[in-house]
Amino acid sequence: MVLPPPRRPGTPYSIALVCLGNICRSPTAQVVLTSKLDAEGLGDLVRVRSAGTGAWHVGEAMDRRAATTLTAHGYDPTRHRAQHFCADWFDRHDVVLVMDDRNLLEVDALAQDDEQRKRTLLFRTFDPDVAHGIDLPDPWYGGQDGFEVMLGVVERTADALVTELKRTV
Ligand code: 4NP
Repeated sequence: MVLPPPRRPGTPYSIALVCLGNICRSPTAQVVLTSKLDAEGLGDLVRVRSAGTGAWHVGEAMDRRAATTLTAHGYDPTRHRAQHFCADWFDRHDVVLVMDDRNLLEVDALAQDDEQRKRTLLFRTFDPDVAHGIDLPDPWYGGQDGFEVMLGVVERTADALVTELKRTV
């Protein structure tokens, strides 16, 4: 899958990662993708933000289980504070990557036109282990194991995204 082209050449390529609460999946993906981009020297060329379609957790730190899992794997989850996805995020980002079908419906409902909807894709569209985009399962309702599984999928997908970003920016 190809990423949408940069909309403002000369400025960092901008990615919005979106889930429901912005305390588990999308901030995990933000921390992992940012870390991998920094490691590849792309930190100044790509900007990664995250938000939730729901506003319940705005201002909160990451879910404790997500933070524990990230820390155990060498990432820093401490800087995250949850944000709410609003319609103006389309204009501020080149691509919106959502974690599941429900996020996709809610984000699409906020889009003003097909151009914005076309720039909204499932995050796992870039997962090399699936033939097409599918949901990143929400670990919020389960135990610690689900967060480990989620992180593995996020790391694999982020690696593929970094490869694609090298062709895009
Ligand atoms: P996330 O997980 O969308 O991956 O951040 C959830 C976080 C909070 C809730 C649901 C899912 N919640 O119902 O508060």
